[in-house]
Amino acid sequence: MTHRGAWNSRWSFVLATTGSAIGLGNIWKLPYMIGVNGGSAFVLIYILSILCVGIPLLMTEIMLGRRVQKNPIDAMKSLAKESSRSNNWKYVGGMGMLTGVMILCFYSVIGGWVLSYISTAVQEGFTGITAEQSSANFGDLLASPLTLLFWHTLFMIITMGVVSRGVTSGLEKANNFLIPALFIILFILLGYSMSVGDMQTSFDFMFKPDFSKISPITALAALGHAFFSLSIGMGSVMVYGSYLKKDVSISRTSIYIAIADTLLGLLVGLAIYALVFANHLDPSEGPGLIFQTLPIAFGQMPWGNFFGILFFILVAFAASTSAISLVEPTIAWIVENTRIGRQKACLGLGLFIWLIGLSVLLSFNVWQDVKLIFGLGIFDTLDKLTSTIMLPFGGLLMAIFAGYFMKKRHSKDELDLTAKTYNLWRMANNIIAPIAICSVFLYLLNIV
Ligand code: TRP
Repeated sequence: MTHRGAWNSRWSFVLATTGSAIGLGNIWKLPYMIGVNGGSAFVLIYILSILCVGIPLLMTEIMLGRRVQKNPIDAMKSLAKESSRSNNWKYVGGMGMLTGVMILCFYSVIGGWVLSYISTAVQEGFTGITAEQSSANFGDLLASPLTLLFWHTLFMIITMGVVSRGVTSGLEKANNFLIPALFIILFILLGYSMSVGDMQTSFDFMFKPDFSKISPITALAALGHAFFSLSIGMGSVMVYGSYLKKDVSISRTSIYIAIADTLLGLLVGLAIYALVFANHLDPSEGPGLIFQTLPIAFGQMPWGNFFGILFFILVAFAASTSAISLVEPTIAWIVENTRIGRQKACLGLGLFIWLIGLSVLLSFNVWQDVKLIFGLGIFDTLDKLTSTIMLPFGGLLMAIFAGYFMKKRHSKDELDLTAKTYNLWRMANNIIAPIAICSVFLYLLNIV
């Protein structure tokens, strides 16, 4: 018998899952993806994806995890057995775990960038920094494998250190403070951006619909990012749901999480683009966007160094609470199925991810020209493969299982909704989400 943790209260599950959802995806990735993918067209499809696919599948995933209270592979196995279905459904859980591990290989490198910015903010501050200097600083960081290695290693140690203690205990307290604090500092940043930046252009860039910019790539990127941002499609949420007691409303919780997650991401975007346009920077800068623009703001605003330090510390925390949820499914599986203890499992898996992470880190400098598939470098390959293919595919399979293979009475029982809302979920899960995911895949295949 293995001991399984459990959340102390309904609130801690909401916080932990929100903590998993809110991370680099909102603060680092969404802003630059908006710029790279043509602004408002991307935002529109992203919001639609959250509403039509993200929220119903978030409910599905929590429901699957809570029903059988197991890690993704064993959960899918038991769920399939309970409904007399093939044992092969366990591979959905297996693919999810692999996806999480692959994401962490690059997530940790970016987490390292954030840590290095804390150190810069503390040691030198950003006072009076110009746009050129800020870009040059970021360029210097990327060009230095040893510095990147140091911070990537530190990020991995922090993440695996927390996971090795068991996820349910420490995370509750951290999140309780972290999420409100992140919102507060974001409002401060937004206020500053509004006073000196070009908020009107930023707003138009993000929200004035421009259908001419919608392309298959935009659609795929936006859909994939909805999965990435909500942490769905791989079993993070399934595992958190498995620690959840039965007295929680899955639907309400899912809506809260989706609203907090989406709002935070879009607000960061608005603040960043107001600065981008005011400083004549390039919106399609790519992964370095926030690291190049935010120091300019912190360098000019009153109390800027203090806010800069605080901001990067909070982002680092947010990143680590997300990183934890990327490996927890795999760790839970190892602990519950082998004689390997939690600590050893964390050490082994941590080392493996750290090692693959090295190749990601080198892909920003010495291995810049190494291309894997479709001419993409190592970082891009891992990122695109996981976000745009593996997560939506994993989500699709979970939706199909929950909708067509699981006994209806089981999902009804677990979701505990009124007849009307249950039917709404069923329509979204069985029809809308699968069609949306498949059509985006097909849309892409047609063109490529
Ligand atoms: N959602 C997190 C972020 O935005 C990243 C993350 C955590 C994730 N767990 C996940 C992404 C599971 C996909 C699947 O930073």
